[in-house]
Amino acid sequence: MKIMVVGSGGREHAIIKALKKNSAITEIYALPGNGGIAKDAVCVNIGAKDIQGITKFAVENKIDFAVVAPDDPLVLGAVDSLKNVGIPCFGPEKKAAIIEGSKVFSKNLMKKYGIPTAAYEVFDNIGDALSYLETAPIPTVIKADGLALGKGVIIAETREKAKEAVKTIMQDKIFGDSGNSVVIEEFLEGPEVSVLSFTDGKTIVPMISSMDHKRAGDNDTGLNTGGMGTIAPNPYYTPDIANECMEKIFLPTIDAMNKEGRSFSGCLYFGLMLTKSGPKVIEYNCRFGDPETQVVLPLLESDLYTIMKAVSDGKLAETSVKFSQGACCCVVVASSGYPEKYETGFEISVPEKLADFEEIYIAGAKQSEGKLLTAGGRVLGAVAKAQDLKTAITRAYALAENIKFSNSYYRKDIGQRALKIYDCKKEKN
Ligand code: AMP
Ligand code: GLY
Repeated sequence: MKIMVVGSGGREHAIIKALKKNSAITEIYALPGNGGIAKDAVCVNIGAKDIQGITKFAVENKIDFAVVAPDDPLVLGAVDSLKNVGIPCFGPEKKAAIIEGSKVFSKNLMKKYGIPTAAYEVFDNIGDALSYLETAPIPTVIKADGLALGKGVIIAETREKAKEAVKTIMQDKIFGDSGNSVVIEEFLEGPEVSVLSFTDGKTIVPMISSMDHKRAGDNDTGLNTGGMGTIAPNPYYTPDIANECMEKIFLPTIDAMNKEGRSFSGCLYFGLMLTKSGPKVIEYNCRFGDPETQVVLPLLESDLYTIMKAVSDGKLAETSVKFSQGACCCVVVASSGYPEKYETGFEISVPEKLADFEEIYIAGAKQSEGKLLTAGGRVLGAVAKAQDLKTAITRAYALAENIKFSNSYYRKDIGQRALKIYDCKKEKN
């Protein structure tokens, strides 16, 4: 069986490694993949946004099943295009991917169907947005409507900063047309949880919960990044909270999308904040999270391909989705200077043999003359699992220390906050 995975990051590497466990899969193509993925799949130089090229490749190579992982191709309609030529796919159609593609859409959806989220106003006119900010509660959160490489959210601590943010998004267009409209919303406080879920539009099965570490520096300091590390499960996400989320957020979201004629099939990601007044949706993503996938999939005991095929066939209810009891930690090893300026092109040395509890998922690297060279801000994820979180963290850091390249940088505190929560829970019991 021939599989194609669209995308080129650590998330895609984790998906490919999980798919490879199914012995019926004989060939995996990554479009475009990267120098590290090249060890596990045939990389084809077709960009993730080249919908025509992706579709043509799938037809010409008689691909049996496609996985579209990143937001851009999903929002652009890659799944629609592949389905049109008869290729079965994992991922939402364009009309459902809008749940991530437009924040105005997702906020209005939540309001219409009573799904808990931060209070908000939408503006497509800069004058109205600025005059609203004269009296809006501060701090406030400004979000560009469309996709913005994960950077379209600005938390403004002062009225001046809020106005400046609106100007840079709506006037200077730093995110292009994504900033034609903005959402200005209530600032929420509380621990954040990422919950990825499998859904075929009828059944929804949440995966094990996780915690991202978005800021560049230790103790959540510095700039926001694509994610500097993750742990799973997330200790804040108790069984009671999980039940509440299922009842008030997950099932209502699936229903709402069906009622809107936008049935969602694929991986629906819930970015949640556990506020004093209950869990609220911070964002939806129409895809697997990165680097959440790198800690969630290693804990998946069931076969990923079987689940993805069941989702695509609308038969998720008949399929078993099991996670192990253990914990997992991913330390992202980045190029120093990320997410701003950084140098690339340095040779990466990784341990020759990995233990069965270790994984390295490559995100930003290329092959050159038989060497693996850094080629991005986030270079790779050093991942380890264990029975308990503390051991998983220790193992992931031991692995990160054995990965060498000039100017490498990683946070030293991934999972530390989560560990404190576990310790508090133990003391209480
Ligand atoms: P996003 O790019 O949508 O993932 O948002 C980036 C980060 O901004 C989130 O992970 C939160 O930490 C923060 N954020 C987004 N919306 C809010 C909000 N309404 N209140 C507080 N923090 C927020
Ligand atoms: N880790 C956050 C995201 O994938 O959007």
